[in-house]
Amino acid sequence: MKISVIGCGYLGAVHAACMADFGHEVVGVDVDPEKVSKLAAGIPSFHEPGLEPLLRKGVDGGDLTFTTDKSALSQARVHFIAVGTPQRGGSYAADLSYVWSAVDDILTHARPQPDGPLVIVGKSTVPVGTAQAIAERIAEAGLDAVVVWNPEFLREGLAVQDTLTPDRVVYGLPDDHAAGDTARSALDEVYAPILEAGIPRLLVNYPTAELVKVAANSFLATKISFINSMAELCDATGADVSRLAEAIGHDDRIGPKFLQAGIGFGGGCLPKDIRAFMARAGELGVDQSLTFLREVDSINMRRRDHAVELASTMAGGRLVGVKVAVLGLTFKPDSDDVRDSPALDIAGRLWGRGANVVATDPAGAEAVRALRPDLQIVDTADEALDGADLVMLLTAWKEYVAIDPAHAKSLVATPRVIDGRNVLDPQRWTDSGWEYRGMGRRSGPSA
Ligand code: UGA
Repeated sequence: MKISVIGCGYLGAVHAACMADFGHEVVGVDVDPEKVSKLAAGIPSFHEPGLEPLLRKGVDGGDLTFTTDKSALSQARVHFIAVGTPQRGGSYAADLSYVWSAVDDILTHARPQPDGPLVIVGKSTVPVGTAQAIAERIAEAGLDAVVVWNPEFLREGLAVQDTLTPDRVVYGLPDDHAAGDTARSALDEVYAPILEAGIPRLLVNYPTAELVKVAANSFLATKISFINSMAELCDATGADVSRLAEAIGHDDRIGPKFLQAGIGFGGGCLPKDIRAFMARAGELGVDQSLTFLREVDSINMRRRDHAVELASTMAGGRLVGVKVAVLGLTFKPDSDDVRDSPALDIAGRLWGRGANVVATDPAGAEAVRALRPDLQIVDTADEALDGADLVMLLTAWKEYVAIDPAHAKSLVATPRVIDGRNVLDPQRWTDSGWEYRGMGRRSGPSA
């Protein structure tokens, strides 16, 4: 199958590499020449474990190419739209300008193919109603192509695994049966290895497919804010949120995943997706249905305030001149993504309150240097810890979780630590002479 992937960011680059791995002939098209030249050389333009070997294999084998030249779209039968839909400036709504420009590019450059009708596959996260609007635009322009919405559920850091072996695939099909059959059989061919492995495939209509994506992310965000609200209760009562999560997680109706309390969720998806969902519900006149997401959002943002206030309290009531070692800046480990990162936000707020912030991150340093040249970034945790009055672990990178508290104590000025991700062993750190504070966690024995 000849495939194009429009937009080569986290989603598109991984998707293109994985589709080439499935044996298709794939061209990735992006407007950013720097990104394209890296990808064309088999080098990922972002940190994603497992992506590089897959890219290299595709590029070296000739099945995977990347270009800024949109005329390459004329060679493909299946066109994936994988562009970003960021939060619109001054609004909660999604900015769909990249989606519409991808549609325009298809209209301008796509050409009929000998092996069957053109299929346009939407993967970007969009407000409900977008697929139908795109299908109408394509029909009005007279292009003989079917639109199908096929949301993506990959997690950064696990993106390759999530694309090659997803939990499920969802096809949002047009109401017209013949068009739906064309789209289904083309996607079945594209995803043959996934379907042969028995991974569930759900056939739904356009609005259901669009809603599945935002409903899933809203549920995950709600789960995290739920446990963070329990962390607030734990702090107020002397309970321990980690033990509470463990205990409720044994109920398989609840499950143990996504119950890690801490400084909250960030990244390029969860925060903007719940906001865009609320904005769309408002447009549809059903804003009350999603009022709870406002609370999910505010619980999440409150975690950052709480971390900064806790830092100030531990430092004796003010942050001016206090040397704070910040471990981790990305929104989660195994990623170099600092978009809406709680860790970076907290580091910036500490700096704004006069703290002498010395931060480090295994993958996010370069992005932070560009965004926040005022923050001091060092290469290693040891350098950050050197002479610190307070240590804050804000992203759960393995190497920070594994830090030996006795070694760390030998470096700092004062052994005080805030475990913003509840990943350190409180007993071990306390026994090593540290003043330990987690998020809704007890510093001593929890039973
Ligand atoms: C999220 C979803 O998990 C994916 O299914 C979805 O495809 C993706 O968004 C998307 O829409 O593209 P991702 O943004 O990579 O994936 O990150 P998550 O693993 O969901 O983590 C989001 C944030 O929640 C991180 O800041 C993480 O540290 C935080 N988190 C996660 C918690 O604070 N507690 C938890 O228990 C789990």
